[in-house]
Amino acid sequence: MLELQQVSLEIDGKSGVEILKDINLKFHEKKIYVVTGPNGGGKSSLAKIIMGVYNPTSGKILLDGQEITELNITERARRGIGYAFQSPPRFKGIKVKELLKMAASHNPDNVNICDLLYDVGLCAQDYLNRDVDASLSGGEMKRIEIATVLARNLKIAVFDEPEAGIDLWSFQKLAETFKNIHTKYDTTIVIISHQERIMELADEIILMSNGTISAQSERDTILAGILNNDACMCSTKCAKGVGQNAECVG
Ligand SMILES: Nc1ncnc2c1ncn2[C@@H]1O[C@H](COP(=O)(O)OP(=O)(O)O)[C@@H](O)[C@H]1O
Ligand SMILES: [Mg+2]
Repeated sequence: MLELQQVSLEIDGKSGVEILKDINLKFHEKKIYVVTGPNGGGKSSLAKIIMGVYNPTSGKILLDGQEITELNITERARRGIGYAFQSPPRFKGIKVKELLKMAASHNPDNVNICDLLYDVGLCAQDYLNRDVDASLSGGEMKRIEIATVLARNLKIAVFDEPEAGIDLWSFQKLAETFKNIHTKYDTTIVIISHQERIMELADEIILMSNGTISAQSERDTILAGILNNDACMCSTKCAKGVGQNAECVG
């Protein structure tokens, strides 16, 4: 469905420094992919390359066989590639129901926004008229983000560290929510996460370090590797404490 072929990325002003190096990836319909790996490994840059925030320095991106390498974020959104909104303050003064209606406005299917809220585990009558602002907890905000993705009926949706800023309780519920929507909707979901609970939801796990894919495989294979691995996951060698993922140098 979405394919990255030999994608590399250099950021302006950092010529010669490749943030992504020769990435080859295929994302299939209706699957959950979890991208994990050390900080600075290139995960967020990969998300931005998929969404069209960055265009690759070299390589190709194909959606359903059609090249979309040079398309920008808006054009890709129109074709069904998207991400959860990430800066809620932009929506100051807007109510949850308005946000969802806005998200659904480009979707030819007639979506019921009450059903959407229900699908992400929120009781519609409690939330429809709430303001999208800091009065919503982190966990509520994440669920509403997911509801906007469902409203848009995206082909592929990317979530960059959805666990950030939410408490453990809400996080457990959030993981359940991803699981439930996976059974009901066709959207391919790419989640960047460090959480085992999220990795358990994956059909495939992609390990990134140093701007490259260091491993990609079915969940259980990679998860077993991560959990049993004595070696440090950093791209540089461990100075001491190998076996406890202790201190790294570099
Ligand atoms: N806009 C940018 N300008 C310069 N360097 C960047 C930019 N974006 C990311 N990088 C660098 O690219 C590397 C990968 O970053 P990122 O994709 O954010 O990693 P991750 O999400 O895995 O932590 C890091 O070394 C980071 O400093
Ligand atoms: Mg990141």
